Amino acid sequence: MNILVTGGCGFVGTNVCLYLINKEYKVSSLDNLSRKGSRYNLSLLKKKKIKNYKIEISNFKKYKSLPKFDLIIDCCAEAAVEVSKKNTDKVFNTNLVGTYNILKKAKKDKSKIIFLSSSRVYPLNMLNNLIKNKNIKKKILIKNKINENSSTIGPKSIYGFTKLSSEMLIEEFSYQYDIKYIINRCGVISGPLQFGKQDQGFVSLWVWKHLNNLKLNYIGYGGYGHQLRDVLHINDLCELIYLQINKIFKVNNLTFTVGGSNYSKTSLKELTKICEKITGNKIKIGKISRTSNYDIPYFVTDNSKVSKIYGWKVKKNIRKIVEDIYGWLSKNKNNIKKYF
Ligand SMILES: NC(=O)c1ccc[n+]([C@@H]2O[C@H](COP(=O)([O-])OP(=O)(O)OC[C@H]3O[C@@H](n4cnc5c(N)ncnc54)[C@H](O)[C@@H]3O)[C@@H](O)[C@H]2O)c1
Repeated sequence: MNILVTGGCGFVGTNVCLYLINKEYKVSSLDNLSRKGSRYNLSLLKKKKIKNYKIEISNFKKYKSLPKFDLIIDCCAEAAVEVSKKNTDKVFNTNLVGTYNILKKAKKDKSKIIFLSSSRVYPLNMLNNLIKNKNIKKKILIKNKINENSSTIGPKSIYGFTKLSSEMLIEEFSYQYDIKYIINRCGVISGPLQFGKQDQGFVSLWVWKHLNNLKLNYIGYGGYGHQLRDVLHINDLCELIYLQINKIFKVNNLTFTVGGSNYSKTSLKELTKICEKITGNKIKIGKISRTSNYDIPYFVTDNSKVSKIYGWKVKKNIRKIVEDIYGWLSKNKNNIKKYF
């Protein structure tokens, strides 16, 4: 199978490329190298002789000139929720027009699609109302996990809107032109090769700051660090994508929620403790109490459907994720510090 990974020099894309090349697939990447750290990841692809097409995904004229691929794994996005407040053009062009372009070519080439969607397709209002206790000074108690049947109605951030719209476009093209697809609605993903920032990749940012004895802030919800997320190890996601590719002729046209689940979840405060243990450093953490209207207090995924269909389960918990990021960062500290 001849595979194109869009966003192939990003955190998820590079890991997926490197995982699949070891499984003997023919793998190429498309990335405009706009993300900090993407040039470093490109050097890893080059070592494995994986070609990157340095193309802007929203430019159909350029995109359609690429060769034919059997499968597109769409990992190309402006993935920071807060960016989608300020730079809506960039988010629309990359996330929505990008998917549209992929679909137009997939229709002609009869390519299959695996789309990396997001837990941000769920509405802010629902997520804000599903916690048991509203006292920001206390640990957040979860009432419900989220699955494929949870509502997607209501404002969700422009980022979430573009991801849900892309999902709907994929379903339309599949219906009309028989394009086979899988949609994975992922919660937080983390692991090596992630150049974290506050609103995209907070786990790797936390480890980096601890490793280098730099300052951090708990932002929002009073600044107590009680926000909670499940976190999926990138290797667990790669394993799932591999299973999905193997079964795509039999199992397709489905949407899954995919996340670390109860097996791998953490609040920021707990993450600090794990980072302190693993790095041996204790850093200063400030408080910024104001909460962004795009922030959510918690997210934990219910993986029942994806586990049942693929026999897949999360193997690596948050401690293992921190250990693996720490291993990568400490080994490559000098080469990668300019990307943080
Ligand atoms: N990382 C997560 O926690 C997470 C969670 C849920 C869903 N996702 C989804 O997974 C996918 C990958 O996310 P990631 O964390 O690897 O993000 P990332 O920012 O690390 O990677 C995205 C890559 O796309 C490239 N890119 C951006 N705009 C482009 C454009 N217009 N044309 C061509 N290339 C462009 C960037 O250079 C970057 O290398 C995204 O679709 C994201 O929505 C990620």
